Amino acid sequence: MKQLTIGHLSERAGVATSAIRFYESRGLVQSVRTTGNQRRYTASTLRRLAFIRSAQTVGLTLEEIGEALATLPENRTPTKADWTRLSRLWRERLDEQIERIERLRDKLDSCIGCGCLSLKTCALSNPHDEVAPRGPGAVFLEPTPHQ
Ligand code: FES
Repeated sequence: MKQLTIGHLSERAGVATSAIRFYESRGLVQSVRTTGNQRRYTASTLRRLAFIRSAQTVGLTLEEIGEALATLPENRTPTKADWTRLSRLWRERLDEQIERIERLRDKLDSCIGCGCLSLKTCALSNPHDEVAPRGPGAVFLEPTPHQ
């Protein structure tokens, strides 16, 4: 089975080597070590990285991503059906995000030209603190953070 160096994997996946090492430290990807203690990855790691980046874009935490990846078979390369099953887990999350964003869009009319950012009444200021796990501030207006 062909194995990739971390540099080759980084180039093919478009993911920084530091991010790959971080994901590995969190158990999201695995490598084997050469006799010279260099990391080598199987080609299937490309799909894992694609899944991780896509899942982060959807808003899943690294813990959630790890739980999803832990359901993949260990004794064989995951199939398209395995990845499809994992991606279906995002459906509910995406529906929730779409609903929140639609609610925000509907409330924006009162914010345009206002600028008060009232903690009590403004949709932009996240009055119900619904997205507190995603960090402080107007997280709807910020790009999804890369962890
Ligand atoms: S900015 Fe005033 S209500 Fe949103």
